[in-house]
Amino acid sequence: MIYADGRLFLLQTANTSYMFRKLESGHMEHLHFGASLFSKDKYEKMRKELDLEAADKELLAKIEKAIAPKHYSGGGNMNNYSDEHSICLELMGLEMSSFGKGDIREPMVELTYADGNTTVDFIYYDYEVKDGKRALETLPSSYDDTNKAQQLIIKLSDKEYATRLDLIYTVFPDCDVITRSAVLYNDSDNPVRIDRLLSASVDFYETGLLFTSFHGRWAYEMQKRSSLCKAGKVVCEELAAGESGSRSNPFVIVSAEDTTEDSGECCGFNLIYSGNHYEALSSNGSSISRFVTGIQPAGFCWTLSKGESLEAPEAVMAYSKEGFNGMSRNMHRFVRKHVVRGTWRDKERPILINSWEANYFNFTQGSLLSLAKEAKNCGIELFVMDDGWFGRRDDDKSSLGDWYPNTKKLPHGVNGLSEKIHDIGLKFGIWVEPEMISEDSDLYRAHPDWAMRIPGKPHSPGRNQMILDLANPEVCDHIITVLSDLFETGGIDYVKWDMNRNESDVYSPYLPPLRQGETSYRYMTGLYRILSALTEKFPDILFEGCASGGNRFDLGMLCYFSQIWGSDDTDASERVDIQTGYSYAYPPVTVSSHVSSVPNQQTLRVTPRETRFNVAAFANLGYECNLCDMDQATLDEVKKQVLLYKEWRSIFQNGRFYRGETVDNGNVVTWNVVSADGSASAGMMFRRLVVANDQRGVLKMHGLEGDKKYRFYSLPFKMDVRLFGDLINMISPVHVKNGSMIHDIISRFVKLDGEHEDTVTFGDALDLAGVELSPAYSSTGFNERTRVFPDFASRLYFAQKL
Ligand code: GLA
Repeated sequence: MIYADGRLFLLQTANTSYMFRKLESGHMEHLHFGASLFSKDKYEKMRKELDLEAADKELLAKIEKAIAPKHYSGGGNMNNYSDEHSICLELMGLEMSSFGKGDIREPMVELTYADGNTTVDFIYYDYEVKDGKRALETLPSSYDDTNKAQQLIIKLSDKEYATRLDLIYTVFPDCDVITRSAVLYNDSDNPVRIDRLLSASVDFYETGLLFTSFHGRWAYEMQKRSSLCKAGKVVCEELAAGESGSRSNPFVIVSAEDTTEDSGECCGFNLIYSGNHYEALSSNGSSISRFVTGIQPAGFCWTLSKGESLEAPEAVMAYSKEGFNGMSRNMHRFVRKHVVRGTWRDKERPILINSWEANYFNFTQGSLLSLAKEAKNCGIELFVMDDGWFGRRDDDKSSLGDWYPNTKKLPHGVNGLSEKIHDIGLKFGIWVEPEMISEDSDLYRAHPDWAMRIPGKPHSPGRNQMILDLANPEVCDHIITVLSDLFETGGIDYVKWDMNRNESDVYSPYLPPLRQGETSYRYMTGLYRILSALTEKFPDILFEGCASGGNRFDLGMLCYFSQIWGSDDTDASERVDIQTGYSYAYPPVTVSSHVSSVPNQQTLRVTPRETRFNVAAFANLGYECNLCDMDQATLDEVKKQVLLYKEWRSIFQNGRFYRGETVDNGNVVTWNVVSADGSASAGMMFRRLVVANDQRGVLKMHGLEGDKKYRFYSLPFKMDVRLFGDLINMISPVHVKNGSMIHDIISRFVKLDGEHEDTVTFGDALDLAGVELSPAYSSTGFNERTRVFPDFASRLYFAQKL
């Protein structure tokens, strides 16, 4: 619901209020973003009667009066706005702040006018309220097909220079989310240089807030880190990589210091953009904090000529007073229903086998088909041929750009292979990395000027490849044509779209020297044009994003790709943290996760097969290992896993996701997902390292119906006696040498029963008290009820409403 009368503005959802007002000076004063200022009944009433009754208007005015800060002029060396309006902008909460007019805090907009002036003063002149959600014109943005979203556009202008700024707010009442973006217009005859155009600026009337962001590096993505901002500034940014990378995801949280997973206030912010980004929380050290988010200003500048406009990406804001989990659930709903789109949005995602860790570059059509047959036997549904199928690509040194089959590996072309895969009964998917060019490629030989590089200067290497200059429309058109041809003729059901190097030596040979500051932004808009053309042309293809694993895991990409490869790190122990990190912002159905072989190829760690599956099951499941090398017993296990996943797939992929509070500094991690109707839930407990005599384990399951009875259970399973090493001699009539052939033979015939949970309890009890699990192994007192949890062990648990 939106209330607007030209002076007071309220954006309202069931649990969130966002309020601001116009001051006499024309500045937009921020009043509140947080918990609802109204009861649910009042909200329902106001929502139905958009033309508010006099009594409600009066109530609004009273609330405004109660929460609005009192104005006072700054003391000492502080500036007032003007003689007429003696307000001190520096001390106020503002909806946007431009540079130079007394608010000396972080600005949302920085411009340089033709006369060299950088002082900018945007003042209110109008507003508009519209039903529905209009898309941004040049950037991907959220959408609404529920007919519930509404938009408020606040129109500001800097009259001295004939520039205008629209602040666009959208309310998504079904998920307690509000989004913001901005558009800058130049109506003057002179060009304006935009040095910064952020998407949102939100002031909080308190300081000492906690800023949580997600960082890492290749194969170590989404590690959660928090800093208290009592004064100064905390920044999360992708400065120059040219992508929303593993170093810093654009999703951040601003919260109270003591907010937990299930209680306390927090605001999640994300950006629908995939390039360099900037999020910062600053504080004046005493009374007010400011959060800003948007395109990274460093390295960016844009010349706006007469009559032109520039859009800032859409920023997404989700408030909750039910802790991080509450905020995440709102974000998840928003991403699933207002970001991800098209044929695959609501469809269950297929279980896939990917050839990369099974074969790397070393494969033939025959070896791919053997892998596919084994996958089919296991119940897998989609075969993905990864890197190495095109040009002369036998390693990562050549051929990017030459998107035609390597006929030595694929004698009958892509289509020949895809027909055979389809005959086996699997869908067929292919890997591409279309934004890149190898120096050793036919494409580079024909179009050296299509690579992004500074002419005549040395270029820093990155995985033996260069980035194509997508600021050049001809390059974008070429990619659309070549890939359309591949997708049309290749019999392709799925595409893994990769991107494996960061920007360096940023320079577009296509753009004139004075426009080089636009290169990275134009690269993104070029890429978005390509993705939009291809996803519209091939609506049935399931597109999966990837950028050296989980780089560029963001909402911009999710507007085109229904899912994204979470990380090149398939080690289950590391994946627990990576997927926990994603879960703060992104629903499980957007994350792909694969079971791989051990020792793990990124860490050489050995984790149990169950854990590799259990962790991957809380996402879109795949296998990335050589099934042909597995013995029958292992293949039978894989078959069972696939069957179980299929049974619970809709909940694993689209259920409501809850993080349990981590125990022992992250040594024990629990998750659970709940069906939309609350009738069933799957949960997992993972313990990284064994701690001696640490027997107690409690699993809580959140989000169930409090007063309904549930059967809580685990699945029966058998254990390998080799797990117990020498201890076999406690029961063996003859001495067995640990690790001997006899030990192996015994293990084939003697299996121990694992512990089994089966009990009935109420939803509330599961949520608050949890279920006391069988005690964990602790040397003495072992029996069939002992929960054997060696290093990296995990268990799945299920709850079903009776
Ligand atoms: C990237 C991806 C991997 C794989 C390789 C192929 O690293 O993240 O999954 O596709 O490229 O070169």
